[in-house]
Amino acid sequence: MNKLVSLTRNFSSSSSLNAIKTVTVIGGGLMGSGIAQVAAQAGQNVTIVDLKPELLENAQKSIQNNLRRVGKKTFKDDAAKIENFVKESTSRINTSTKVEDGVNADLIIEAIVEKLDVKQELFNKLDQLAPEHTILATNTSSISINAIGAGIKRKDRYGGLHFFNPVPVMRLLEVIKGDQISEATYQTLMEWGKSIGKTCITCKDTPGFVVNRLLGPYSAEAIRLYERGDASKEDIDIGMKLGAGYPMGPFELADYTGLDTNKFVMQVMYEQTKDPVFRPVPLLDKMVAEGKLGIKTGEGFYKYKKSNL
Ligand code: CAA
Ligand code: NAD
Repeated sequence: MNKLVSLTRNFSSSSSLNAIKTVTVIGGGLMGSGIAQVAAQAGQNVTIVDLKPELLENAQKSIQNNLRRVGKKTFKDDAAKIENFVKESTSRINTSTKVEDGVNADLIIEAIVEKLDVKQELFNKLDQLAPEHTILATNTSSISINAIGAGIKRKDRYGGLHFFNPVPVMRLLEVIKGDQISEATYQTLMEWGKSIGKTCITCKDTPGFVVNRLLGPYSAEAIRLYERGDASKEDIDIGMKLGAGYPMGPFELADYTGLDTNKFVMQVMYEQTKDPVFRPVPLLDKMVAEGKLGIKTGEGFYKYKKSNL
């Protein structure tokens, strides 16, 4: 692991409010890299853990690109200030393929694959390895946070932090309260959200929380509308952009989110609610089986050139 020494030196053992200075993000994909970026931008020391070195390299490249975009917005045409911002922020990010290298943190956020058993196994390990004061959080889109944390002992220091894609741009953070979260942990998570520039809303551990409970049916109905041949995907996208003021149409958004994530979210919400609006969408299942996952694989509902990936 690079820069572990400086990370450890900066490590804070305080458990009071506003104490979060070191953050570990497990999973450096689309969401994890964004979460790591916003924490580093805010001056916090960050460790990203992922399965393979090449995935960590991809995460670092994507963070650098996106920091440059934020830098351009913040410092306009001042190239030196932009480069300095990118350099300083990236210098606060360490990477490792071992969970053990990331456990000495004030806050550990999980952003791995949307599968209950894989998440549970990770949290059980983190609970055993992390220092007592460390708060554990999951970025799950749809799985019950109580179910993910069922096996951990520190249920008072555990919650949901649901970010939105693209993390550096979307201003919302949903702070999800597990059944046994302490008031101190809840307040610390709300304060941390503010410290990274997000507006926080609070939600109980209810399927889809606030935003996905509403976005899920919208997305599913859009695909069904297209699947039935009622309208083209292009027209549905135009309809929601120009008729409802959405920045992206439902197919553009599905490709942007990842069709695999969309499918998992729908599946989990259907299992939890039994509401037929979340029933499986055959076209979505087919596309995921074919590896058409959206922008990340170069094809979803639309095709993408390499330069856009
Ligand atoms: N990092 C940093 N900056 C970024 C960025 C990133 N990853 N992506 C875009 N930007 C910046 C761009 O640099 C650009 O900045 P300027 O305005 O200074 O030029 C700005 O954001 C707008 O970007 P673009 O011009 O490239 O494109 P756009 O105007 O179409 O905006 C978008 C892109 C912000 C993604 C916009 O289309 C949008 O808001 N889409 C909807 C996204 C959404 O709904 N997300 C939530 C999904 S649900 C979810 O995440 C929850 C879940 O559990 C699945
Ligand atoms: P992704 O596929 O882009 O990234 C997941 C990363 O986790 C991959 O790099 C993978 O190698 C890594 N990983 C998998 N198992 C791991 C393990 N055991 N240890 C370490 N790393 C591991 O997925 P994503 O879109 O970033 O989603 C991650 C989580 O965030 C999911 O729970 C998803 O539901 C949630 N989420 C996604 C979005 C979205 O728009 N994509 C929005 C909000 C929340």
